[in-house]
Amino acid sequence: MFRLFVYCTILCLGASVYASGVVSRSAPAVGEEFGLYAYGESVGGLSLFYADGKAMIGDPANSTASTTSSVYFERSSESSDSTFVANPNGTTNANASWSDEMLYIPSSSSSSHEMGFTSTNMTNETTTGFIFYGQWLMVKSESGDISSSFYVEESSQGDGIYSLLWDVSDDTSAIPVSLRSVKPSTA
Ligand SMILES: *[C@@H]1O[C@H](CO)[C@@H](O)[C@H](O)[C@H]1NC(C)=O
Ligand SMILES: *[C@@H]1O[C@H](CO)[C@@H](O)[C@H](O)[C@H]1NC(C)=O
Ligand SMILES: *[C@@H]1O[C@H](CO)[C@@H](O)[C@H](O)[C@H]1NC(C)=O
Ligand SMILES: *[C@@H]1O[C@H](CO)[C@@H](O)[C@H](O)[C@H]1NC(C)=O
Ligand SMILES: *[C@@H]1O[C@H](CO)[C@@H](O)[C@H](O)[C@H]1NC(C)=O
Repeated sequence: MFRLFVYCTILCLGASVYASGVVSRSAPAVGEEFGLYAYGESVGGLSLFYADGKAMIGDPANSTASTTSSVYFERSSESSDSTFVANPNGTTNANASWSDEMLYIPSSSSSSHEMGFTSTNMTNETTTGFIFYGQWLMVKSESGDISSSFYVEESSQGDGIYSLLWDVSDDTSAIPVSLRSVKPSTA
């Protein structure tokens, strides 16, 4: 019930964003660099970052992973066939040892719920289907269903660091979040 409500709220907001046509509330343009930020209960716009190939939420400076980068994304088109290609945010990460990795959600064939980054397309990792409603990130499945089943869960890998999970409604310790391309205004 709660998730349905959130889902509708997000879609309705997205629709009104489109209807009003306010430029500052629109989705990132094709080729534009953008970051992703998680919003939910007790998570007020923490950034999505790279930690040893996994997508984590929080301040990368607090992460205990061996390779940590803040990231920016670019998309090649507005269609749901487009991948979100990530790169280390160069201004903060001179030593990053990776580049051009695609954001993925675990496929239904995967036993994992963790989102991450990959340079190769694998059947257990879905790299397409990411679309924006205004600045809200959604995922469109092959059958055309649109959902936003993003969750975070506290991680032991640093102070204020969360794992970013997909579709874990049965896990009571996970917090539902929305992912948006806009930074918190207070940050
Ligand atoms: C990249 O880093 C700069 C400097 O820290 C910051 O202003 C910018 O918002 C970052 N970009 C993304 C997409 O996180
Ligand atoms: C980058 O690498 C140099 C040399 O290995 C090291 O001294 C420096 O601390 C590293 N910087 C970061 C941000 O990891
Ligand atoms: C997909 O499979 C590869 C190879 O078996 C594995 O390394 C990776 O962790 C899997 N990814 C997910 C999301 O299950
Ligand atoms: C992965 O698949 C997507 C969608 O088909 C495609 O756009 C992208 O180029 C592929 N990437 C690689 C590295 O094969
Ligand atoms: C990062 O760690 C410091 C020190 O432990 C903590 O005060 C701060 O709140 C953490 N940052 C975030 C975004 O959680």
